[in-house]
Amino acid sequence: MNATLEDIKAAAGKTDATDLRAAFAADPERFKNFSLRFEDLLMDFSKTAINSEVLALLVKLAKEVGVEEKRAAMFSGEKINITEDRAVLHTALRNRANTPVMVDGKDVMPDVNAVLEAMGQFAEGIRSGATKGATGKTFTDVVNIGIGGSDLGPAMTTLALAPFHDGPKLHYVSNVDGAHIADTIKDLDPATTLFIVASKTFTTIETMTNAKTARKFIADALGEEAVGHHFCAVSTALEKVADFGIEQDRVFGFWDWVGGRYSIWSAIGLPLMIAIGAEDFGRFLDGAHAIDKHFQDAPITENLPFMLGLIGYYQRVVLDYPSRAVIPYDQRMSRFAAYLQQLDMESNGKSVTVGSEDVTTPTGPIVWGEPGTNGQHAFFQLLHQGTNIIPIEFMIAANGFETDLRHQHQLLMANCLAQSEALMKGRTLEEAKTQLLNKGSDEATADKIGPHRVFSGNRPSITFVYDSLTPYALGRMIALYEHRVFVEGALFGINSFDQWGVELGKELATGLLPVVSGKESADDHDSSTAGLVSTLLGMAK
Ligand code: F6P
Repeated sequence: MNATLEDIKAAAGKTDATDLRAAFAADPERFKNFSLRFEDLLMDFSKTAINSEVLALLVKLAKEVGVEEKRAAMFSGEKINITEDRAVLHTALRNRANTPVMVDGKDVMPDVNAVLEAMGQFAEGIRSGATKGATGKTFTDVVNIGIGGSDLGPAMTTLALAPFHDGPKLHYVSNVDGAHIADTIKDLDPATTLFIVASKTFTTIETMTNAKTARKFIADALGEEAVGHHFCAVSTALEKVADFGIEQDRVFGFWDWVGGRYSIWSAIGLPLMIAIGAEDFGRFLDGAHAIDKHFQDAPITENLPFMLGLIGYYQRVVLDYPSRAVIPYDQRMSRFAAYLQQLDMESNGKSVTVGSEDVTTPTGPIVWGEPGTNGQHAFFQLLHQGTNIIPIEFMIAANGFETDLRHQHQLLMANCLAQSEALMKGRTLEEAKTQLLNKGSDEATADKIGPHRVFSGNRPSITFVYDSLTPYALGRMIALYEHRVFVEGALFGINSFDQWGVELGKELATGLLPVVSGKESADDHDSSTAGLVSTLLGMAK
């Protein structure tokens, strides 16, 4: 018999899933039973509304839906991105075993290795100072110009791996808002600045516009002939790069089987490699490869990405929670939620199945987050006492890098664990009143104030713990989330690897450019859009 959503809902309604406090009291082994470990990475999901029956049904469902077969299809280079007729092989970019990976009858590994080698040589030249700018000066600053997957991955990881950063200073420009590039270059010396133009398609308007501004910055200061010395590019569209005037030996390619939001492992990772060096970049790939192997080989119930995906699906579809928050207790992971927003929401924010039918269940949740402890002083009020239940994913290292500030790391850990405990346990009215009375309140005050101090509890969270945020650990964490998105997408029955939802806005923006430039009338647009255009143009100086 099939595992239906009704079966899972019925199993989820049992006390050990609906009352977490009671579930922990009844089962002293709950942590042991509902946590997994891979190397030093622990995933504790015992504070979610899970029980063994729910888990067994979720596993059954995954088998029926064929998630394992879909996983094999992805790793073997089948064209599972059906709307673009492409394979999905970001895993080949970190295939450290170097086993053949075939696309259209050709092993892609020699090309993958060749680009990695070329990136390493180029990065080393910049880092060592052997490769210089047009005036003979060493590069002190590198500016990556890209957006979406051509920005978020390198930007997030550069920040996350700051303790390993021993190369030139890195800057990231993404927004077409001129303020972004203006603020970035205003204090830079053109003679010591290298620009990386990163775009899979080399057509993205934001990137091309910023690249032209950067080109002018160099040409105005150092002359047109200096441009070649101060630019390099990362793209799959090698001809378009040549048209921009960047020399072939400064172009690092990748392939259409690498999705933008899965591209940090490709040449898109060049800025990170320049920051931390080829060796540490290799360790970053190693971490991801370790998770790839684990995802492929471990049985479902021992498989971290698989289980993370099953719980995510359960929380979204069965329990109907529309959102999830990712809260790293790590200041350097402050862009991780933004990175996951593209990874998850661009992948699974879909309404049509792979069979081109409308979906019948909810799909990807809204993903958001900020680092702890900052979030505690902002939105945690709603997480604890608001009317929505928002599952949270916490992450915390056992060791920070500031060994002389160990007491601060202890505070960080205490806060992280306190939040998940508070969310799970809550505080009853009786407990709230007793606390007030013990603090000297009279009965009337305790009756009045007590309800405001009640925490319903039963608010789910998953906590990840790891030794420290090394390149290896970060690679592992990103790959874990990539495969979680894959598992959820497979369960939703959608194609997680296209992004048609970004197209309409792009098309309309192209049409509106002559309108906001005052060259065409807004008459063809709706009255709101026309009214906004006329207001903006009326105020424009
Ligand atoms: O926003 C859509 C998108 O295509 C993303 O998927 C991609 O990462 C981003 O734009 C940038 O694209 P490109 O690397 O081609 O400039």
